[in-house]
Amino acid sequence: MAATSAGADPLADDPHLNTVPRSPAEAARISTVTAPTSDFSAPEPFEANPGGAATVRAMATADAFSQFSANLSFEDELRFKLGNALFRKLWVSSPSSTLASDGLGPLYNARGCQSCHLKDGRGQPPMDPEQTGALSMLMRLSVPVAPDAPVSALSAYLAGRDGAPVAATMPDPVYGNQLQPLATPGQTPEGRLAVTWTEEPFAFPDGEQASLLRPDWRIDSPHYGPFADGIMISPRIAPQMIGLGLIEAIPAADILAGEDPDDTDRDGISGRAAVVISPEFQRPVLGRFGLKAGAATIREQSAAAFSGDIGISTPLVPAPWGECSAAQADCRNGPHGDGDARGTEIDEEGLDLVTFYSRNLAVPARRDLDDPQVLAGKQQFYQAGCTACHRPKFVTHRLSDRAEQSFQLIWPYSDFLLHDMGEGLADNRPDGRATGQEWRTPPLWGIGLTGQVSGHTRFLHDGRARNLTEAVLWHGGEAQTARDHFVSLSPQDRAALIRFLESL
Ligand code: HEC
Ligand code: HEC
Repeated sequence: MAATSAGADPLADDPHLNTVPRSPAEAARISTVTAPTSDFSAPEPFEANPGGAATVRAMATADAFSQFSANLSFEDELRFKLGNALFRKLWVSSPSSTLASDGLGPLYNARGCQSCHLKDGRGQPPMDPEQTGALSMLMRLSVPVAPDAPVSALSAYLAGRDGAPVAATMPDPVYGNQLQPLATPGQTPEGRLAVTWTEEPFAFPDGEQASLLRPDWRIDSPHYGPFADGIMISPRIAPQMIGLGLIEAIPAADILAGEDPDDTDRDGISGRAAVVISPEFQRPVLGRFGLKAGAATIREQSAAAFSGDIGISTPLVPAPWGECSAAQADCRNGPHGDGDARGTEIDEEGLDLVTFYSRNLAVPARRDLDDPQVLAGKQQFYQAGCTACHRPKFVTHRLSDRAEQSFQLIWPYSDFLLHDMGEGLADNRPDGRATGQEWRTPPLWGIGLTGQVSGHTRFLHDGRARNLTEAVLWHGGEAQTARDHFVSLSPQDRAALIRFLESL
């Protein structure tokens, strides 16, 4: 189902979409419409609606991220609501009289999707160093593989594509790919995720003060004994859930067009596409979802979450014990919820409903976009070079079966590529294509509503930033020049830039 005329790169193909090819005239119009603006005297046409025709009115409540695409059909509203019920559902351990809801764990991170993606917004790090119980984040784990291990399919593919094979890692042989800090009765949690924060004062050249919280993440009380040698950990906060279906509908070719691995335009910013072997399509595809873009589709990310985070099997990831390894016999032999009429603990239809729901959580409209301070801040955002990664606009594919996402001008403020963000933000844990210093540019749409929706303003992959200013100050690596530009601005220009972010 190749849709765009991007030549032979198989990654430019979008096997997850039913697309209608763009005509050359359309492609030309799209490149005009998506070109960066240089006029900051007034908002651009359609800028008020970052999710195109799917955009909803910005509610002034904590429900601002929980609305469905404005252009959803009446029938599909029902599908959205059924999906919402599954997203909010709290799973219970087996055996249980509530058969359709059992199968939790035995080891798990949370009892439901909504526990981490609370109000469809983002999670936060533990507030109290002694906090136990459910968190709205998770910790990924891996270890280096032996030098003589066979080359992975992904590495072999990438070596052929651009001569850049990936670092060879594997899940911890006992704990797996992710720490499960909770367990059903009779089972023992794998360990406890903990962090120590160090406050680091920061002074702008103009004398204004800020302060950064540097985290030191660790895992306490590992139940199954020490981790394997060279264990690498990656703490990740649950991201906001809005606009995901639109991101999924961006032509892969348009994301790939932003790649500049050798920095041929010498702007100090490279940007590399994430590549994953899709479990569903059994071939290399562009990764778009997750903080290192490790998942190609919402469906694959959701199935992985059911398994890894909740211990619920799906047709895509059918093991009833979630991601318990063979070394965790008590977990593997524990009670499970599969084998009844559902087949897997959640069936194809259930997985499709949750996927549909996640695809249609709508992006709220911009606020105050014609305010002079917001417009001045927009200009600062462009001049500081933020748009080199936080790319303002895309036009989605024409789709024959997803009218809500079809052919929309969208404003995610992301290029969906991987960037080296320097040592300060590094988790030092390579993940698929991404190195230990790379992260996917997160979309910025809706970011100004974070406090209202989530009751906190913790940003970046591990929630270390307490506000937008701290988030920008942590930028390093490819973003160092943009960050330094931000630091050198007058307090008034800096405030305008932040005000622009708050209007997104
Ligand atoms: C333990 C907390 C937690 C739970 C529970 C959880 N998620 Fe997530 N979710 C995350 C984190 C963390 C990420 C980022 C993952 C990564 O970087 O690999 C994420 C990413 C996602 C994404 C991709 C978003 C993006 O912007 O790329 C989707 C879609 C998603 N989750 C859906 C779900 C669904 C559906 C469920 C329930 C089946 C669920 N999640 C349960 C923490 C959670
Ligand atoms: C080289 C690419 C790049 C440039 C340039 C860049 N960013 Fe980012 N930005 C990122 C990446 C990648 C992250 C995620 C980092 C992380 O989570 O550790 C991020 C995160 C953010 C966040 C937090 C988003 C969230 O959801 O937590 C904000 C706000 C932000 N950037 C604003 C800016 C501003 C303002 C500028 C210009 C001064 C800028 N960025 C320049 C790549 C970039």
